[in-house]
Amino acid sequence: VDLIERAARDIINSRNAIALTGAGISVESGIEAFRGSQGLWAKYDPEEYATIQAFIDNPEKVWNMFREVLETIINAKPNPAHYSLAELENMGYLKRVITQNVDGLHQEAGNKNVIEFHGNNRELVCLRCNSRYSMNSFNWMEVIPRCKCTSILKPAVVFFGEPIPWDALTTAQSDARKCDLIMVIGTSAVVSPAREMPVIAKQNGAKVIEINIEETSLTYTTSDYIIKGSSGIVLPGIVNKIKEIQ
Ligand code: APR
Ligand code: ZN
Repeated sequence: VDLIERAARDIINSRNAIALTGAGISVESGIEAFRGSQGLWAKYDPEEYATIQAFIDNPEKVWNMFREVLETIINAKPNPAHYSLAELENMGYLKRVITQNVDGLHQEAGNKNVIEFHGNNRELVCLRCNSRYSMNSFNWMEVIPRCKCTSILKPAVVFFGEPIPWDALTTAQSDARKCDLIMVIGTSAVVSPAREMPVIAKQNGAKVIEINIEETSLTYTTSDYIIKGSSGIVLPGIVNKIKEIQ
């Protein structure tokens, strides 16, 4: 049977399906992924721009890179892959989306149960006094946002070297332990602990379905099968097949 139909049947037969998503699901929304020849990290060395130490040492430099990322994000719209996951949630199949992305496109597409594993691009935090602000309350394109205590504010995204927000980590781990199916969509699975969620799920007997244009380190160690293709094509195909079968 073809893999789209196999995935549709697996989802219909599941009782607690979740998804882990990465930058690949937003590529068809016009947001560059991180790795690969055209990736953001090919242009900006993550060691220099995306670690918490880099931000502390040179916040202006990091803000310049982050502004560029934000510009692509604010113009981006959800693509059919995001809308398919919202539909699967509305149909009662998808219990949670654990996303590594900070673009907010899952929520914009309509998903309510979203864990932002690497933080979000809507808020700013002060490393000195822990105050939090909304990104919207600053003209961040013109000036680098500062806290009332005058310290330069940090975007609420998780930089390399920073911990995953506690509630995001513990809820995602619990979801991974309890799920009976996890779709792993558009992630290179190179960053931990995010890439451990499918491993935890597998250890607890869940079915692991990868959707990616290329294989990853999970494909032959953890995934039950990989559906090779763009998530913007594969996910709508699965949703349509579910509607046909059920
Ligand atoms: N459909 C499905 N998969 C795709 C598509 C597409 N249209 N386009 C690209 N991909 C896949 C790539 O094959 C790759 O496996 O998406 C993945 C993107 O990998 P990365 O760029 O490494 O993004 P991600 O896995 O989300 O990175 C994880 O690393 O830099 C940190 O915090 C950042 O959250 C990010 C984390
Ligand atoms: Zn402050």
